[in-house]
Amino acid sequence: MAIISDDNNFENQNSRQKNPIIKTESIEYDKTFENSIRPKTFEDYIGQSALKETLKITIEAAKLREKPLDHLLFYGPPGLGKTTLAGVIAEQMGADIKITSAPALERPRDIIGILMSLKGGEILFIDEIHRLNKVAEEILYPAMEDFFLDMTTGKSQTVKTLRVPLPKFTLIGATTKAGALSGPLRDRFGIIHRLQFYTIEELSQVIKRTASILDIKITEDGAVAIAKRSRGTPRIANRLVKRVSDFALIKFDGVITDEVANYSLDILNIDEFGLDTTDRAFLNLIIEKYDGGPVGIETIAAALSEDVRTLEDVCEPYLLQSGLLQRTPRGRKVSPEGYRHLGKKVENYQQSLF
Ligand SMILES: Nc1ncnc2c1ncn2[C@@H]1O[C@H](COP(=O)(O)OP(=O)(O)OP(=O)(O)O)[C@@H](O)[C@H]1O
Ligand SMILES: [Mg+2]
Repeated sequence: MAIISDDNNFENQNSRQKNPIIKTESIEYDKTFENSIRPKTFEDYIGQSALKETLKITIEAAKLREKPLDHLLFYGPPGLGKTTLAGVIAEQMGADIKITSAPALERPRDIIGILMSLKGGEILFIDEIHRLNKVAEEILYPAMEDFFLDMTTGKSQTVKTLRVPLPKFTLIGATTKAGALSGPLRDRFGIIHRLQFYTIEELSQVIKRTASILDIKITEDGAVAIAKRSRGTPRIANRLVKRVSDFALIKFDGVITDEVANYSLDILNIDEFGLDTTDRAFLNLIIEKYDGGPVGIETIAAALSEDVRTLEDVCEPYLLQSGLLQRTPRGRKVSPEGYRHLGKKVENYQQSLF
C-alpha cells in the first residue's frame, strides 16, 4: 500500500495566505512520533468495536463484489483515530491512499488535479472536510455520485460542458465538526460514523502497545493510571506515556508504575479527570465570573485569550462527555459535578437551565 500525502501542497497553499500556519518543530516531531506508533491493521486498532465489525463486513463484501467501498465519513473530537482508521481501511482493501486536507483544496484545479490522478479502487482521504469551499464541493458531487467530472470549456456563447469519466474511487472524509458539513455533501456518504471516546481499559491497551513499541517499561497499574488521565483519547494517552517515561527514567528506576504515573501527571498539572490547566481555567471562569453560566463561548474565549475553535473542538467535547459542563440554548453552564470537581461549593449552582 502506497501512502501519498500532499503535505507539500498544503504548505504551499499556506505560504500564499496572509497568516501562514507555521509548522513548528514540535508539530513536525509529534507527527513523526504519531506515525511511528500508528496502528496499520484492524488487529492493532484498539476499541471502536462496533464500527470495526461493520467495516470488516463492508470491506469483505466490496472485495467479493470487486467494487470500491462506499464513501465513508468519520467524525469526532481530535485524536480518536479517524486518520488512523483511513489507513487501516486502505491496508485491508489492499488499496493505495492519497491523503489531503480541505484547506489544501482551495482552487478548483487542486481538487480536479487530485481526482484526475486517482487510480481505480484508490482511496482519497480528505481531512477537515467541513472546510471545503463551495466550488470544491460542487466538483465533488458528481465525482462521488457517478464518478464524473463536469468541466466547462470555452467562453460565453461557445461554452460547453464536458463530462470526464473518473476511475471508481472511495472518498473517506474526516471532520471534528459534522454539523458544519453541508447537507448535500453529507448525503453523498454511504457510511457516516462518529468515533467514540475510549474506555480506561481500551486506553490501557493503547498505552501498553505504545510502551512496547518504544521500549518503555510499564506495569499494569501504571498503564491504568495514565489511561485514567487521558481524556478518553489515544493521542493524549500516547503523549502522556512519553512524558511520564521521562520522569520514570530521571526520577525513578525507569519503570512506569501507578506511583510514578500519578507523581509525574500531578507535576504536569493533569488532574485525576485528565483535565489540564486550560480545561480548569475554562470551568473556573464560568463559576467565578458568570455564576456558573450560562455564558456564550465567544465571551469565554475572549476572557481566556483562547481561540473559539480550540475551545469548541478540543476542550469542550470531553468536558461535556464527562458531565462537568452543560450546553444550553443560552450558552455554557458548569454542572454540579463540575463545581465538585474544582472543589467549589455546589450551593452556588443555579438550577435553571435557561
Ligand atoms: N484505535 C486506536 N488504537 C491504537 N492507537 C490509536 C487508535 N486510534 C488512534 N490511535 C493513536 O492516536 C494517534 C492519533 O490518531 P489519529 O491521528 O488517527 O486521530 P484523528 O482522529 O485523525 O485526529 P485529528 O482530528 O486531530 O486529525 C495515532 O497516532 C495513533 O497512534
Ligand atoms: Mg486526523
